[in-house]
Amino acid sequence: MATTVHPTPHEAHPGEGASVDLTYCVSHAPQIFLQPAEEDPAELATVHEGYRRFARQAKELELDALLVVALDHLHNHFLDLVPMFTVFTGTPVVARMNAVDAICEARPDLADSLIDHLLASDFDPAFSQREVLDHSFFVPLHFASTELETPVMPIVINAYVPPQPSMRRCYAFGRAIAKWSHLNDYRIGVVATGGMSHYPGTDRFHHPDLAADQEVLGWLKAGDIDRLINLSAAELDRIGMVELRTWAVALGARGGAARLRYNTYWDSGHCGYAILEF
Ligand SMILES: [Fe+2]
Repeated sequence: MATTVHPTPHEAHPGEGASVDLTYCVSHAPQIFLQPAEEDPAELATVHEGYRRFARQAKELELDALLVVALDHLHNHFLDLVPMFTVFTGTPVVARMNAVDAICEARPDLADSLIDHLLASDFDPAFSQREVLDHSFFVPLHFASTELETPVMPIVINAYVPPQPSMRRCYAFGRAIAKWSHLNDYRIGVVATGGMSHYPGTDRFHHPDLAADQEVLGWLKAGDIDRLINLSAAELDRIGMVELRTWAVALGARGGAARLRYNTYWDSGHCGYAILEF
């Protein structure tokens, strides 16, 4: 008689419930670095401290790498070529704003390993060895770097040039990151940068959709991630949250455990600045 061995769910789908070890979604507005006189210094200091907070936690958790998932404001990716997902594989990591550089240690070996996993998971990411990253990386890393001892792995999401990846696709990309870390026993943090509602370069600059900010924060507090990742491209455009595609990656990497537990939201007048930990 043949014996049938039924694999446990874990064996059948290894890494299915995986979660990374640290997850943040943070703002990256240039003003957070420039500190204009009209913005409250105490509120800006709270954001700066939030960046240092994830750097300290990454050290305490002895993470192998901190994936910084951000975007490109048409500095590197525009008319020539616009990849949906780009993994930076060079070293060191260099992010620049106003001729100031934030330089961080890289882990190109882990970046290559992640690309292999993504390719085996039906994603076809681009990769770049010499991209100088823009302020979406620079602003958090500039302030975090005073305490950051963990290597950084940048990932660039196409948030701005239509057609962009869907929120659901970004969430699935994050799930693939969690599975990669689980299968390889890596200790990984993910910091997504972007948002919340803002309309840069438009006549709505001073009128962000604050109600939409509160609605999204409510979903995150309730752990209702589905509401967020079901937002369409048109809805993201309407509420000024195209950059939240990076958050969808981070929340996918966090998986079922994603629930907001630290929040510094402040309305700056043109964009709600937030340091969110999940
Ligand atoms: Fe931005």
